[in-house]
Amino acid sequence: MKPRQIVSDMDSYVPGRSQDEIAEEFGLKKEDIIKLGSNENPWGPSPRAVEAIKNELNSINRYPESQLKEIVHLAAEYADVKDSQVIIGGDGADEIIDVLAKTFIEPDDEFIVPIPSYMYYEYLLKQYGARPVYARWDLENNILDVDSIFEKITPKTKMIFLCSPNNPTGTLIDRNDLVKIASNNPDILIVIDEAYFEYSEVTNKDLINEYDNIFIIRTMSKVLGLAGMRIGYGLSCEEIIEYMHRIKPVFSLTRLSYVAAVNTFKDKAYIEKSITDGIESRDYLIDELSKIDSLNVFPSKSNFILIGVKDTGYTAAEITREFMKRGIIVRDCTSFKGLDEYWIRISICTMEENRKFIEIVHEVVD
Ligand SMILES: Cc1ncc(COP(=O)(O)O)c(C=O)c1O
Repeated sequence: MKPRQIVSDMDSYVPGRSQDEIAEEFGLKKEDIIKLGSNENPWGPSPRAVEAIKNELNSINRYPESQLKEIVHLAAEYADVKDSQVIIGGDGADEIIDVLAKTFIEPDDEFIVPIPSYMYYEYLLKQYGARPVYARWDLENNILDVDSIFEKITPKTKMIFLCSPNNPTGTLIDRNDLVKIASNNPDILIVIDEAYFEYSEVTNKDLINEYDNIFIIRTMSKVLGLAGMRIGYGLSCEEIIEYMHRIKPVFSLTRLSYVAAVNTFKDKAYIEKSITDGIESRDYLIDELSKIDSLNVFPSKSNFILIGVKDTGYTAAEITREFMKRGIIVRDCTSFKGLDEYWIRISICTMEENRKFIEIVHEVVD
């Protein structure tokens, strides 16, 4: 049986490697492996969320909530927007991107992504027949090349994806640039991905009150510690949110995810500590790694750090393997468009893991 042509032509998405995979491949104990490949919260979930999941277990014979009123309200409160400006996704922010595509993309539309950036936009939008058009991050100066966006706009451009802080560069996009792009292109949806905004302490969510063509992506997978529960949310004008609700999967947020989300939003102390500890861990890693001459360490406003490894004499694939043999999972960025074969990305870990990681970095590169 032949699949649709689009499916025949597609490559699979390359996610970060898991502890189970690495334990098996290198004969290591899973609990000894330090995972720095997927930009997660290393301190675990909110204890209130864990308790709520346990209490909910005997109800999983029932379908989940479909209205999601409480979680919509809590997400709106957290983001400081109106309930009617929020949509919740049950497969994380990735579901929000998927619903955006299903709502707005017609076959043969174009979308612009400055590369390198999060590769899942392309992976999802291609499935609906849209074509990626690449603009550029200026890696030398570590900023978005705004002119490259304007140069790529055509009558077919339907969306522009702007990730801030950008994955994998860790860079924020200047608010004036976002405003310039949105205000000059009222018929193009400007999707600002703020998956990591808490670590930068900068948000552009208030722009949804001024521009009907801005959509903000958020997730509970990072600071909020729920990557395994798969919860994301989107913020935009009421009209866009209403269209998206028409076609969003009704039961994609499971009962367990629902209670985990509600209780995490209510756990203000946990959220505050996740942010402070995250920023402290990131800054420690940047300081320590910057002392190593052969590494090109990018500053970061996020929970991950992009590192050029060319001067170590290894390619990203080779150095990733050296780390994995020693029980450290890092992200080989070779599959990111816009980067050559000499970049890896690491994410924050606990201070104890940080120190072990830095020791191993010296062992590998010195
Ligand atoms: C920039 C960016 N956006 C969205 C996502 C997806 O997050 P989620 O786990 O909520 O699907 C990620 C995940 O790593 C990401 O890096």
